[in-house]
Amino acid sequence: MRVAVTGAGGFIGSHLVDALLGRGDTVLALDIGRRLPSNLAEAATRPGFTYARCDVTRESSVRRAFTGPPDAVVHAAATVGVEAYLRTPMETIESSVIGTRTVLRATMAPGVRFLYLSSSEVFGRNPAVPWSETSDRVLGDPSLHRWSYSTSKGLCEHLVNAAHAEHGVPTVIARPFNVYGGRQRPAFVVPITIQRVLNGLPPVIYGDGRQTRCFTFVGDLVDGLLRCLDRDAAVGESFNLGNPKERTIVEAIQRILEACGSSLAPTHEDPHATFGAGFDEIPRRVPEVAKAARLLGWTPTTELPEGLASTVAWARAHPEWVRIRRRRSKPASATPP
Ligand SMILES: NC(=O)c1ccc[n+]([C@@H]2O[C@H](COP(=O)([O-])OP(=O)(O)OC[C@H]3O[C@@H](n4cnc5c(N)ncnc54)[C@H](O)[C@@H]3O)[C@@H](O)[C@H]2O)c1
Repeated sequence: MRVAVTGAGGFIGSHLVDALLGRGDTVLALDIGRRLPSNLAEAATRPGFTYARCDVTRESSVRRAFTGPPDAVVHAAATVGVEAYLRTPMETIESSVIGTRTVLRATMAPGVRFLYLSSSEVFGRNPAVPWSETSDRVLGDPSLHRWSYSTSKGLCEHLVNAAHAEHGVPTVIARPFNVYGGRQRPAFVVPITIQRVLNGLPPVIYGDGRQTRCFTFVGDLVDGLLRCLDRDAAVGESFNLGNPKERTIVEAIQRILEACGSSLAPTHEDPHATFGAGFDEIPRRVPEVAKAARLLGWTPTTELPEGLASTVAWARAHPEWVRIRRRRSKPASATPP
């Protein structure tokens, strides 16, 4: 297959590119930077790899970057992270909505599979966990930037589903749940805690830490994404791709400390003091994954300690990642999308 991947220089995109190349696919890797992203340095040495600069929000840039029709497009480019959607919600909304619209319009065709990376954030704060693919979206007041990312992703899902229904585009929607692994920016609970601990700083827990997440190792997610590309049964469907094992943030932080061999004591912070009064915590975020098992044959297999050991090993092998470049006034999110 010839697969185009937007956001290819990012955390998930780069792992997917490696997996595609590993199985012999040809990859057109697209990202916003002029220079090859460092996450793609190894991929760039392999046959079948091409990198092109592409700002997904600009039509001319997208049309220039897509040279020849691919067999499949994976649209992973987006502005990601709690800090981003709280501080630059316009960019969050535009990169998501305009970016998805532009890439979809430029590439959509009946024979070209379009895999869209949505997010577990689409379910908002629906208290009825676990969430199936058809669970309700429960969101707060649109004056709160907190919901800009979720709303953008939800609108993009509508757009992708409409392209399937109106134009027969073979679309698939994947909703990753709290993915972690090597290369992730230290702006989410797992990487930021690893980075802090390896620098001798105590982990930060927002609130009482009893909020739960289902941490999904990037290797498991990539396996699910490949199945979304390959399986006929995936077309026109949405899938929750998450490890259903629920962990409190307190437990997750403890596991990270163990993986780092550290006995540092966590500190607690008020998320509203850090992120502002408009911040709204999701108490529980749990996927139901029966549909992915049934239609994709996908089940996540990496236990948290194993995935954390791999992530910490990657971090130790990349001291440039471990080094804290600039002091933030406050650490970033403990509860990522
Ligand atoms: N990491 C997670 O836990 C998680 C969870 C749910 C959903 N997702 C989704 O998965 C996708 C990838 O996330 P990630 O964790 O790899 O994030 P990331 O920030 O590591 O990667 C995103 C990439 O998109 C690129 N990008 C941003 N704006 C762009 C633009 N205008 N044009 C071209 N490229 C642009 C960035 O340069 C970056 O390389 C995103 O769509 C995200 O919403 C991630």
